[in-house]
Amino acid sequence: MEIQINDAASIPAVGFGTYLINDAQAEISVTEALQVGYRHIDTAEGYQNEAGVGRALRASGLGRDEVFITTKMWPGNPAWGQPIKDYSATIAALDSSLDSLGLDYVDLYLIHAPFAGAQRLEQWQALEELRRQGKARSIGVSNFSSAHLDEIQTAGLYTPDVNQIELHPWSQKPELTSYMQQRGIVAVAYSSLVPLAEWRVAEGHDSSKSEEMTQAGTREDFSFKKLAAKYQVTEAQFLLRWGLQKGYAVLPKSTNPARIRQNIDLFYFEIAEDDMAAVAVMDQGPGVAWTSGDPVFQQ
Ligand SMILES: NC(=O)c1ccc[n+]([C@@H]2O[C@H](COP(=O)([O-])OP(=O)(O)OC[C@H]3O[C@@H](n4cnc5c(N)ncnc54)[C@H](OP(=O)(O)O)[C@@H]3O)[C@@H](O)[C@H]2O)c1
Repeated sequence: MEIQINDAASIPAVGFGTYLINDAQAEISVTEALQVGYRHIDTAEGYQNEAGVGRALRASGLGRDEVFITTKMWPGNPAWGQPIKDYSATIAALDSSLDSLGLDYVDLYLIHAPFAGAQRLEQWQALEELRRQGKARSIGVSNFSSAHLDEIQTAGLYTPDVNQIELHPWSQKPELTSYMQQRGIVAVAYSSLVPLAEWRVAEGHDSSKSEEMTQAGTREDFSFKKLAAKYQVTEAQFLLRWGLQKGYAVLPKSTNPARIRQNIDLFYFEIAEDDMAAVAVMDQGPGVAWTSGDPVFQQ
Protein backbone atom coordinates (compact mmCIF):
# COMPACT_ATOMS: atom_id res chain seq x y z
CA MET A 1 0.00 0.00 0.00
CA GLU A 2 1.31 3.43 -0.97
CA ILE A 3 0.25 6.98 -0.16
CA GLN A 4 0.62 9.70 -2.81
CA ILE A 5 2.73 12.58 -1.44
CA ASN A 6 2.88 14.81 -4.55
CA ASP A 7 2.16 14.59 -8.29
CA ALA A 8 5.22 12.43 -8.94
CA ALA A 9 5.81 10.33 -5.82
CA SER A 10 4.18 7.99 -3.35
CA ILE A 11 5.44 6.64 -0.02
CA PRO A 12 5.01 3.04 1.18
CA ALA A 13 2.43 3.17 3.97
CA VAL A 14 4.49 0.99 6.34
CA GLY A 15 8.10 2.06 6.78
CA PHE A 16 10.84 0.82 9.09
CA GLY A 17 11.92 3.24 11.86
CA THR A 18 15.56 3.29 12.97
CA TYR A 19 15.75 5.75 15.89
CA LEU A 20 17.80 4.33 18.81
CA ILE A 21 19.30 1.62 16.60
CA ASN A 22 23.10 1.93 16.45
CA ASP A 23 25.00 1.74 13.19
CA ALA A 24 26.01 -1.95 13.42
CA GLN A 25 22.55 -3.06 14.53
CA ALA A 26 20.94 -0.91 11.81
CA GLU A 27 22.67 -3.04 9.18
CA ILE A 28 21.26 -6.20 10.78
CA SER A 29 17.72 -4.93 11.42
CA VAL A 30 17.32 -3.09 8.09
CA THR A 31 18.48 -6.28 6.32
CA GLU A 32 15.79 -8.18 8.23
CA ALA A 33 13.17 -5.53 7.41
CA LEU A 34 13.98 -5.55 3.69
CA GLN A 35 13.83 -9.36 3.64
CA VAL A 36 10.31 -9.42 5.08
CA GLY A 37 9.01 -6.78 2.70
CA TYR A 38 9.53 -3.27 4.11
CA ARG A 39 10.27 -0.89 1.23
CA HIS A 40 10.61 2.35 3.20
CA ILE A 41 13.45 3.02 5.65
CA ASP A 42 13.35 6.09 7.91
CA THR A 43 16.69 7.37 9.18
CA ALA A 44 18.22 10.74 10.10
CA GLU A 45 21.54 12.53 10.34
CA GLY A 46 20.91 12.60 14.10
CA TYR A 47 20.47 8.81 14.40
CA GLN A 48 24.10 8.18 13.39
CA ASN A 49 23.15 5.01 11.55
CA GLU A 50 22.92 6.12 7.91
CA ALA A 51 26.05 4.14 7.02
CA GLY A 52 24.53 0.94 8.47
CA VAL A 53 21.31 1.58 6.55
CA GLY A 54 23.38 2.03 3.38
CA ARG A 55 25.27 -1.26 3.91
CA ALA A 56 21.98 -3.12 4.36
CA LEU A 57 20.59 -1.57 1.17
CA ARG A 58 23.61 -2.61 -0.87
CA ALA A 59 23.58 -6.14 0.57
CA SER A 60 19.85 -6.55 -0.14
CA GLY A 61 20.33 -6.79 -3.89
CA LEU A 62 17.25 -4.59 -4.32
CA GLY A 63 17.31 -1.93 -7.01
CA ARG A 64 17.56 1.70 -5.91
CA ASP A 65 14.07 2.40 -7.26
CA GLU A 66 12.59 -0.46 -5.21
CA VAL A 67 13.29 1.12 -1.81
CA PHE A 68 12.09 4.48 -0.49
CA ILE A 69 14.66 6.21 1.73
CA THR A 70 13.85 9.07 4.09
CA THR A 71 16.53 10.96 5.95
CA LYS A 72 16.42 14.17 7.99
CA MET A 73 18.59 17.24 8.38
CA TRP A 74 19.35 18.19 11.98
CA PRO A 75 18.56 21.93 12.06
CA GLY A 76 20.66 22.77 15.13
CA ASN A 77 19.05 24.12 18.28
CA PRO A 78 20.28 27.22 20.14
CA ALA A 79 18.28 26.11 23.22
CA TRP A 80 20.61 23.09 23.39
CA GLY A 81 23.74 25.13 22.66
CA GLN A 82 23.91 24.08 19.00
CA PRO A 83 24.42 26.48 16.08
CA ILE A 84 21.64 26.69 13.50
CA LYS A 85 22.49 25.35 10.06
CA ASP A 86 22.40 28.14 7.46
CA TYR A 87 21.57 27.65 3.76
CA SER A 88 24.94 26.24 2.73
CA ALA A 89 25.27 24.03 5.83
CA THR A 90 21.85 22.58 4.98
CA ILE A 91 22.97 21.81 1.42
CA ALA A 92 26.16 20.25 2.82
CA ALA A 93 24.17 18.16 5.33
CA LEU A 94 22.41 16.24 2.55
CA ASP A 95 25.70 15.70 0.71
CA SER A 96 27.11 14.22 3.89
CA SER A 97 24.03 12.00 4.47
CA LEU A 98 24.21 10.77 0.85
CA ASP A 99 27.87 9.97 1.40
CA SER A 100 27.07 7.93 4.50
CA LEU A 101 24.15 6.16 2.81
CA GLY A 102 26.17 5.52 -0.35
CA LEU A 103 23.37 6.99 -2.48
CA ASP A 104 23.09 9.80 -4.99
CA TYR A 105 19.58 10.81 -3.97
CA VAL A 106 17.08 10.25 -1.18
CA ASP A 107 13.38 9.81 -1.82
CA LEU A 108 12.40 12.17 0.98
CA TYR A 109 14.44 14.77 2.86
CA LEU A 110 13.02 16.37 6.00
CA ILE A 111 13.92 19.21 8.35
CA HIS A 112 13.92 17.20 11.60
CA ALA A 113 12.36 19.89 13.80
CA PRO A 114 11.36 23.58 13.65
CA PHE A 115 14.22 24.73 15.88
CA ALA A 116 15.82 27.23 13.47
CA GLY A 117 13.62 30.22 14.41
CA ALA A 118 14.28 33.13 12.03
CA GLN A 119 16.36 30.79 9.84
CA ARG A 120 13.59 28.21 9.31
CA LEU A 121 12.68 29.58 5.88
CA GLU A 122 16.35 29.71 4.84
CA GLN A 123 16.62 25.99 5.64
CA TRP A 124 13.41 25.30 3.72
CA GLN A 125 14.73 27.22 0.68
CA ALA A 126 17.82 24.99 0.80
CA LEU A 127 15.55 21.92 0.68
CA GLU A 128 13.74 23.45 -2.32
CA GLU A 129 17.13 23.76 -4.05
CA LEU A 130 18.03 20.13 -3.21
CA ARG A 131 14.74 19.07 -4.75
CA ARG A 132 15.49 21.08 -7.90
CA GLN A 133 18.89 19.38 -8.08
CA GLY A 134 17.25 15.96 -7.77
CA LYS A 135 19.23 15.00 -4.65
CA ALA A 136 15.93 14.83 -2.76
CA ARG A 137 13.02 13.56 -4.84
CA SER A 138 10.48 14.90 -2.32
CA ILE A 139 10.89 17.28 0.62
CA GLY A 140 9.09 17.79 3.89
CA VAL A 141 9.30 18.72 7.53
CA SER A 142 8.95 17.04 10.88
CA ASN A 143 7.48 18.27 14.17
CA PHE A 144 6.13 21.43 12.51
CA SER A 145 2.99 23.05 13.97
CA SER A 146 0.35 24.71 11.77
CA ALA A 147 2.03 28.07 12.56
CA HIS A 148 5.32 26.75 11.17
CA LEU A 149 3.55 25.42 8.07
CA ASP A 150 1.75 28.76 7.67
CA GLU A 151 5.09 30.55 7.68
CA ILE A 152 6.15 28.55 4.59
CA GLN A 153 2.84 29.17 2.85
CA THR A 154 2.84 32.91 3.61
CA ALA A 155 6.34 33.17 2.13
CA GLY A 156 4.97 31.63 -1.09
CA LEU A 157 7.39 28.69 -0.95
CA TYR A 158 6.85 25.04 -2.01
CA THR A 159 4.34 23.31 0.26
CA PRO A 160 6.01 20.46 2.20
CA ASP A 161 5.04 17.04 0.84
CA VAL A 162 4.81 15.57 4.35
CA ASN A 163 5.00 16.51 8.03
CA GLN A 164 6.36 13.65 10.15
CA ILE A 165 4.83 13.95 13.62
CA GLU A 166 4.07 11.88 16.72
CA LEU A 167 0.60 10.38 16.19
CA HIS A 168 -1.12 7.63 18.15
CA PRO A 169 -4.41 7.38 20.07
CA TRP A 170 -2.96 9.38 23.00
CA SER A 171 -1.63 12.18 20.75
CA GLN A 172 -4.03 12.67 17.84
CA LYS A 173 -3.36 16.35 17.02
CA PRO A 174 -6.81 16.85 15.43
CA GLU A 175 -6.33 20.52 14.48
CA LEU A 176 -2.89 20.03 12.95
CA THR A 177 -3.87 16.92 10.98
CA SER A 178 -6.99 18.57 9.56
CA TYR A 179 -4.92 21.67 8.66
CA MET A 180 -2.48 19.36 6.85
CA GLN A 181 -5.24 17.45 5.10
CA GLN A 182 -6.74 20.69 3.76
CA ARG A 183 -3.39 21.62 2.24
CA GLY A 184 -2.44 18.18 0.92
CA ILE A 185 0.43 17.69 3.38
CA VAL A 186 0.65 13.96 4.12
CA ALA A 187 0.98 12.90 7.77
CA VAL A 188 3.75 10.41 8.50
CA ALA A 189 3.15 9.05 12.00
CA TYR A 190 6.04 8.30 14.34
CA SER A 191 6.05 6.55 17.72
CA SER A 192 2.75 4.78 16.94
CA LEU A 193 3.51 2.26 19.70
CA VAL A 194 3.74 4.73 22.64
CA PRO A 195 0.73 3.22 24.49
CA LEU A 196 2.47 -0.19 24.73
CA ALA A 197 3.96 -1.03 28.13
CA GLU A 198 7.04 -2.27 26.22
CA TRP A 199 7.57 1.00 24.30
CA ARG A 200 11.27 2.01 24.57
CA VAL A 201 11.77 -0.13 27.68
CA ALA A 202 14.59 -2.08 26.03
CA GLU A 203 16.18 1.21 24.95
CA GLY A 204 15.98 2.66 28.49
CA HIS A 205 13.07 5.12 28.36
CA ASP A 206 14.54 7.96 26.37
CA SER A 207 11.28 9.97 26.39
CA SER A 208 8.87 11.99 28.52
CA LYS A 209 6.28 9.19 28.80
CA SER A 210 4.91 9.20 32.34
CA GLU A 211 5.08 6.25 34.71
CA GLU A 212 1.28 6.36 34.82
CA MET A 213 1.08 5.87 31.05
CA THR A 214 3.50 2.94 31.20
CA GLN A 215 1.56 1.35 34.09
CA ALA A 216 -1.73 1.67 32.17
CA GLY A 217 -0.32 -0.65 29.51
CA THR A 218 0.41 -3.41 32.02
CA ARG A 219 -3.18 -3.71 33.29
CA GLU A 220 -5.41 -6.59 32.18
CA ASP A 221 -8.27 -4.22 31.28
CA PHE A 222 -6.03 -1.93 29.18
CA SER A 223 -8.16 -0.69 26.25
CA PHE A 224 -5.67 -1.77 23.58
CA LYS A 225 -5.36 -5.26 25.08
CA LYS A 226 -9.13 -5.65 24.75
CA LEU A 227 -9.29 -4.19 21.25
CA ALA A 228 -6.38 -6.34 20.06
CA ALA A 229 -8.03 -9.47 21.49
CA LYS A 230 -11.26 -8.62 19.67
CA TYR A 231 -9.46 -8.59 16.30
CA GLN A 232 -7.08 -11.42 17.26
CA VAL A 233 -4.05 -9.27 16.57
CA THR A 234 -1.33 -7.87 18.83
CA GLU A 235 -1.66 -4.47 20.49
CA ALA A 236 1.15 -3.22 18.22
CA GLN A 237 -0.74 -4.35 15.12
CA PHE A 238 -3.91 -2.66 16.35
CA LEU A 239 -2.08 0.65 16.95
CA LEU A 240 -0.35 0.55 13.56
CA ARG A 241 -3.56 -0.37 11.75
CA TRP A 242 -5.28 2.57 13.49
CA GLY A 243 -2.65 4.88 11.93
CA LEU A 244 -3.14 3.38 8.47
CA GLN A 245 -6.94 3.74 8.71
CA LYS A 246 -6.48 7.39 9.68
CA GLY A 247 -4.62 7.76 6.36
CA TYR A 248 -1.14 8.06 7.88
CA ALA A 249 2.07 6.36 6.84
CA VAL A 250 3.57 4.55 9.89
CA LEU A 251 7.19 3.79 10.86
CA PRO A 252 7.42 0.98 13.44
CA LYS A 253 10.90 0.41 14.89
CA SER A 254 12.07 -2.91 16.27
CA THR A 255 15.29 -4.87 16.55
CA ASN A 256 13.33 -8.06 17.27
CA PRO A 257 12.90 -10.15 14.08
CA ALA A 258 9.48 -11.55 15.06
CA ARG A 259 8.18 -8.05 15.82
CA ILE A 260 9.68 -6.67 12.59
CA ARG A 261 7.57 -9.24 10.71
CA GLN A 262 4.48 -8.68 12.83
CA ASN A 263 4.59 -4.88 12.43
CA ILE A 264 4.16 -5.00 8.65
CA ASP A 265 1.47 -7.70 8.73
CA LEU A 266 -1.43 -5.24 8.94
CA PHE A 267 -3.57 -5.94 5.91
CA TYR A 268 -5.66 -8.96 6.93
CA PHE A 269 -8.00 -7.14 9.34
CA GLU A 270 -9.88 -3.88 9.52
CA ILE A 271 -10.87 -1.86 12.60
CA ALA A 272 -14.62 -1.28 12.61
CA GLU A 273 -16.01 2.26 12.62
CA ASP A 274 -17.35 2.04 16.19
CA ASP A 275 -13.90 1.05 17.48
CA MET A 276 -12.27 3.90 15.50
CA ALA A 277 -14.83 6.18 17.18
CA ALA A 278 -13.99 4.76 20.62
CA VAL A 279 -10.28 5.48 20.01
CA ALA A 280 -11.07 9.01 18.75
CA VAL A 281 -11.96 10.11 22.30
CA MET A 282 -8.70 8.82 23.85
CA ASP A 283 -6.60 11.85 22.86
CA GLN A 284 -4.40 13.22 25.67
CA GLY A 285 -2.75 16.07 23.78
CA PRO A 286 1.02 16.44 23.26
CA GLY A 287 3.21 13.50 22.41
CA VAL A 288 5.91 12.03 24.64
CA ALA A 289 8.62 10.71 22.31
CA TRP A 290 11.02 13.59 22.96
CA THR A 291 12.62 13.99 26.40
CA SER A 292 12.00 17.74 26.12
CA GLY A 293 8.29 17.35 25.29
CA ASP A 294 6.46 17.36 21.96
CA PRO A 295 8.17 19.97 19.70
CA VAL A 296 4.88 20.52 17.83
CA PHE A 297 3.44 22.09 20.96
CA GLN A 298 6.45 24.39 21.50
CA GLN A 299 6.89 27.64 19.60
N1 LIG B 1 10.87 12.84 13.41
C1 LIG B 1 11.00 12.62 14.71
O1 LIG B 1 11.21 13.55 15.50
C2 LIG B 1 10.89 11.21 15.20
C3 LIG B 1 10.77 10.97 16.59
C4 LIG B 1 10.64 9.66 17.01
C5 LIG B 1 10.61 8.63 16.09
N2 LIG B 1 10.75 8.88 14.75
C6 LIG B 1 10.78 7.79 13.73
O2 LIG B 1 9.68 6.91 13.96
C7 LIG B 1 10.18 5.61 14.27
C8 LIG B 1 9.26 4.88 15.25
O3 LIG B 1 9.15 5.58 16.46
P1 LIG B 1 9.82 5.07 17.82
O4 LIG B 1 11.16 4.47 17.53
O5 LIG B 1 9.72 6.18 18.77
O6 LIG B 1 8.87 3.97 18.40
P2 LIG B 1 7.83 2.87 17.93
O7 LIG B 1 8.14 2.28 16.63
O8 LIG B 1 6.51 3.49 18.17
O9 LIG B 1 8.10 1.79 19.08
C9 LIG B 1 9.34 1.17 19.25
C10 LIG B 1 9.37 0.50 20.63
O10 LIG B 1 8.35 -0.50 20.71
C11 LIG B 1 8.93 -1.81 20.80
N3 LIG B 1 8.18 -2.64 19.85
C12 LIG B 1 8.26 -2.61 18.50
N4 LIG B 1 7.40 -3.49 17.95
C13 LIG B 1 6.77 -4.09 18.98
C14 LIG B 1 5.79 -5.11 19.03
N5 LIG B 1 5.27 -5.65 17.93
N6 LIG B 1 5.35 -5.51 20.26
C15 LIG B 1 5.86 -4.96 21.39
N7 LIG B 1 6.81 -3.98 21.39
C16 LIG B 1 7.26 -3.55 20.20
C17 LIG B 1 10.38 -1.64 20.41
O11 LIG B 1 11.22 -2.54 21.09
P3 LIG B 1 12.10 -3.65 20.29
O12 LIG B 1 13.01 -2.90 19.36
O13 LIG B 1 12.81 -4.37 21.39
O14 LIG B 1 11.10 -4.49 19.55
C18 LIG B 1 10.66 -0.22 20.91
O15 LIG B 1 10.87 -0.20 22.30
C19 LIG B 1 11.60 5.88 14.78
O16 LIG B 1 12.41 4.74 14.80
C20 LIG B 1 12.05 6.96 13.83
O17 LIG B 1 12.40 6.39 12.58
C21 LIG B 1 10.87 10.17 14.31
